[in-house]
Amino acid sequence: MGRPEIRHANLSGYYMSAVIKEAELDLRPMREDDLDFIMDIEKQAYEYPWTKTIFNDCLHVGYCCWVIEKGDALLAYGVMSVAVGESHLLNLCVHPDHQSTGLGKMLLAHLLDIAVERYANMTFLEVRPSNFAAIKMYLEHGFDEIGVRRNYYPAKMGREDALILARTVVRGDEFSE
Ligand SMILES: CC(C)(COP(=O)(O)OP(=O)(O)OC[C@H]1O[C@@H](n2cnc3c(N)ncnc32)[C@H](O)[C@@H]1OP(=O)(O)O)[C@@H](O)C(=O)NCCC(=O)NCCS
Repeated sequence: MGRPEIRHANLSGYYMSAVIKEAELDLRPMREDDLDFIMDIEKQAYEYPWTKTIFNDCLHVGYCCWVIEKGDALLAYGVMSVAVGESHLLNLCVHPDHQSTGLGKMLLAHLLDIAVERYANMTFLEVRPSNFAAIKMYLEHGFDEIGVRRNYYPAKMGREDALILARTVVRGDEFSE
């Protein structure tokens, strides 16, 4: 199955809500009143979830925070910071009941498009080595492993390392004469 068509307008850097036609999904910026729904998903999807305060802080500092919803149901969300030529994907999460249906890669592609449009030359992220599905997705979207942060994450048996992945943006015009 190909990537569903996403219609979105970019008016001087402001991203309008987008409607993904075929699937009747709405891709739009996260709002503060989404956070209770997000926390519900976050606690189901992660053993060590973010707190509501972290999401609130991300919204208030102006990070790129997006959600996918269908009707009244929030299905997925992502948080990314973009500054001085770099972006960091900080959270990307799909409701467990809707995983492996294409939502994760849809949101990832959208966030990477925003990073490119905001002149980020690199996108970084950390991922648990045990998170095979996520690693596979990132590698398929142009990320490479560039390092390891030892004992980065809490884990049942003490701590777990983080793999650091990076994706370089090569703009066509950088190589034109
Ligand atoms: C990781 C996550 C965001 C992926 O989103 P998703 O909607 O489930 O994945 P998608 O259906 O969009 O699939 C994207 C790719 O992920 C990989 N993938 C998804 N589900 C998989 C599974 N069950 N097994 C192996 N790979 C899988 C595949 O590479 C897939 O690409 P393909 O369909 O072209 O083969 C989602 O599973 C999730 O929210 N997990 C819990 C939170 C989390 O771990 N977030 C990442 C933190 S770094």
